[in-house]
Amino acid sequence: MSSSSLLVIVLAAGMGTRMKSAHPKVMHAIAGKPMVGHVIDLGKDLGAQKCAVVIGPEMEALENTVRDQKADVQIYVQKDRLGTAHAVLQARQAIEGHEGKVLVLYGDTPLLTRQALQGLLDQLDQGASVGVLGFETPDPSGYGRLLLGEDGALLAIREHKDASQQERAVTFCNSGVMGFQGATMLSLLDKIGNDNANEEYYLTDAVELARQAGLKTVASVCPQEDVLGVNDRVQLGQAEQIFQTRRRQQAQQDGATLIAPETVFFSHDTQIGRDVIIEPNVVFGPNVTVNDGAHIYSFCHLEGATIKQGALIGPYARLRPGADVGPGAKIGNFVEVKKATIQDGAKVNHLTYIGDADVGSGANIGAGTITCNYDGFFKHKTVIGAQSFVGSNSSLIAPVNIGEGAYIGSGSVISEDVEPDALAITRPERRSFPRWAVRYRQAQKRKKEAKNAS
Ligand code: UD1
Ligand code: CA
Repeated sequence: MSSSSLLVIVLAAGMGTRMKSAHPKVMHAIAGKPMVGHVIDLGKDLGAQKCAVVIGPEMEALENTVRDQKADVQIYVQKDRLGTAHAVLQARQAIEGHEGKVLVLYGDTPLLTRQALQGLLDQLDQGASVGVLGFETPDPSGYGRLLLGEDGALLAIREHKDASQQERAVTFCNSGVMGFQGATMLSLLDKIGNDNANEEYYLTDAVELARQAGLKTVASVCPQEDVLGVNDRVQLGQAEQIFQTRRRQQAQQDGATLIAPETVFFSHDTQIGRDVIIEPNVVFGPNVTVNDGAHIYSFCHLEGATIKQGALIGPYARLRPGADVGPGAKIGNFVEVKKATIQDGAKVNHLTYIGDADVGSGANIGAGTITCNYDGFFKHKTVIGAQSFVGSNSSLIAPVNIGEGAYIGSGSVISEDVEPDALAITRPERRSFPRWAVRYRQAQKRKKEAKNAS
């Protein structure tokens, strides 16, 4: 059977008081991306035609974040938090007239995967009207229990507070993820009441109502880890850890060597090629691409950077947004690079700041070189020609061009352009005083003796 079109509804109206935060819960990030963004992206990944996000009142920042996800999203506001069914019904407009499947996801469940949902989606495609994604857990307290019939059909979901002793012994739990057929969904949800321990409109009641209407209801199972809900900062940390573990394994499976994987931290969007070696203690901020064969030595922090084939980075390097390190180029220890292109084979090996610059191929930048790019008001550019040699401890005061093949004498302060193949040097002439130190020491010694005697 061909799979029908998909609408994803993301519930994100809860403020999440246990986060103890000024920001809505789903704004908190895993690997640098808000949790709600992970869930919306999953919807995109599933090929959803439409996505509806239900948020709470006065959540402007969340609204903006959702709009930034570059998906076709509709935002609905749930003014009063009257339960999960009530939340879903805020997206009534999106459900009305939707012919295919509807998937309800929680914005605070960022680890869910396509694979975990596949069984549920297949069952909907095979004609189930309501499906639930469940998980087995030794500690089911607090979760809705999935009550199955003899034949394995899903009979009902019983919320913990409303469950009998016998029902509470069930360890098969509701993850919160539910699937529906658009055609029958609203007729079921409109029948849901709030006659329960919480006086809430429970989305989970849709299962029993569907059965009463003679519709097919099913449960599908996934690992508990995939549906970990984040309610506080401890769980946020756990989710981050699981995400990182998965991402590290992905990089390894894609052909990168991680010497101490547990010490490497990825961003949600990090791209790592083959035969890349990443040494211990490396942190990736957003938007980094590492191409094949590059080697990242220990203790580097990389953000907004592109590292081309075979480049060597670190140890202790900091690449900031706009750093573009060419093939075979080398960025060494205690070097900071920002908004600068380092062409192929160039070397910036030690203790240097390169900002707003273009370093030509094969150039050698000596230890302690600083591009003085900022005058307190504006940023200016430094262009360093191919094959040039900048002596150690030089200050290049931008805007300035160093011609191809030029030499800069160590310790120079260069504020005007240097022509190709020239030597520029601003070092003061050396003066020398033979045996001065001997005379100085003798004079000082005599002074000290005179003082002690008095
Ligand atoms: C819900 C399920 C329960 C399941 C559990 C899994 C129901 C009735 N219960 O319980 O079976 O085991 O999730 O974690 O569905 N939300 C809104 N508006 C509301 C209420 C909730 O947007 O009015 C959102 C919350 O922000 C949250 C999600 O829906 O993301 C779940 O709500 P929550 O109150 O945490 O449900 P549970 O009681 O945990
Ligand atoms: Ca919850």
